[in-house]
Amino acid sequence: MIIAVDGPAGAGKSTVAKIVAKKLNINYIDTGAMYRAVTYKCLANNIDINDEVSVINIAKNSIIDFKDNNIYLDGKILADEIRTMEVSNNVSNVAKIKEVRYLMVDIQREIGKRSSVILDGRDIGSYVFPNADYKFYLVATPEERGLRRYKELTEKGYDVNLDEIIKDIIKRDEIDSNREFAPLVKSDDAIEIDTTGKSIDEVVDLIYEVL
Ligand code: DC
Repeated sequence: MIIAVDGPAGAGKSTVAKIVAKKLNINYIDTGAMYRAVTYKCLANNIDINDEVSVINIAKNSIIDFKDNNIYLDGKILADEIRTMEVSNNVSNVAKIKEVRYLMVDIQREIGKRSSVILDGRDIGSYVFPNADYKFYLVATPEERGLRRYKELTEKGYDVNLDEIIKDIIKRDEIDSNREFAPLVKSDDAIEIDTTGKSIDEVVDLIYEVL
């Protein structure tokens, strides 16, 4: 079984997808983490994100995998280092590179062949798994999405500014939605859920009603 959960940054996709995965006892794949892993590796190696050839080279020479719902880059588990503002502000420019996407999508499809899985991302229902069993598209206002990210980051001890986060989120949505190849888009057969003002449990229940 394949469940696709797409939508813009901060719409609640990963929180909800993790809970549904646990309840159904299936794997959860955070596809955004894959693009973040490539971005993180580029930054760590002082690669200019605008230098597409070098970024593609990094992506080609990376081993990205998931074990127990954790992402591994070249055999090492990744956690908070892929959630920094620096990675967040650069990842859309890495994710818009077609060759990088081909590589990540191959891994995602391979995982989908091996097991039942719920994936969260931007193009899962529209491009990676157009025949997914279930497709959801989560949205929320930029203000609410910004506030969620703000809380997440401040709880982790980061010193961040809410207005800047909202601005960054809007900018990221713009790049993700307007890129040429496999952009952020709701596929016609996806069920849209507006998570603004809804609790995590309410959103999980809405998804559960459909499954
Ligand atoms: O969900 P996230 O914020 O961790 O995603 C990070 C970036 O990766 C975001 O700019 C969109 C991009 N992305 C993508 O292009 N396709 C996906 N399937 C998942 C994420």
